[in-house]
Amino acid sequence: MSMPLPYQDVLAEVLVDEDSLQKRIAELGQQISQDYAGEDLLIICILRGAVLFLTDLMRKIDIPHTIDFMAVASYGEGARESSGSVRITMDIRTDIRDRNVLIVEDIIDSGLTLASVMELLEARHPKSLQACTLLDKTSRRKADVPIRYVGFDIKDKFVFGYGLDLDEYYRDLPFIGVVDLEKYQPSE
Ligand code: IMP
Ligand code: MG
Repeated sequence: MSMPLPYQDVLAEVLVDEDSLQKRIAELGQQISQDYAGEDLLIICILRGAVLFLTDLMRKIDIPHTIDFMAVASYGEGARESSGSVRITMDIRTDIRDRNVLIVEDIIDSGLTLASVMELLEARHPKSLQACTLLDKTSRRKADVPIRYVGFDIKDKFVFGYGLDLDEYYRDLPFIGVVDLEKYQPSE
């Protein structure tokens, strides 16, 4: 297996720096805390991209809440675009019936992944079901999916860092970067 390049070699530009991310996440945390004040809250993090966002966000939510994790895969692995139907590769362990559920995602592109996840979860009869995404590529939307909380609206560029990967690497970066497509062609 060949070694991945240092991130500097595939980075075209920093799109959202660390300070801007943390500032916005604090605002989202405050908003969520207000909206769910006095209510029970379960946050479902979609693996693996949303992990960094979840851990920073939950530290900015000052009401009691629980977390769980779900992993999904689009049918047609390796494709760069969502196929529209997802399959659960790791399910949550929590019974969500009659609970206020907030899905936390890294990025919404076509919206097809989130639409499928919401349909799957809705069938389990939560009390409420909302979504929160750090990044939103609204211009690419194919599915009309309701998203209550959005960190940043971004242009149609392939991004990485802060949970988002390029072929599984670079999730650790504390900022969101744009891929230099002349130097790196992501395979998904
Ligand atoms: P959607 O079903 O088209 O909304 O796809 C959303 C998923 O595609 C995200 O959870 C990411 O895994 C992936 N994705 C979409 N755009 C990007 C990107 O710019 N960088 C990294 N992953 C992305
Ligand atoms: Mg993802």
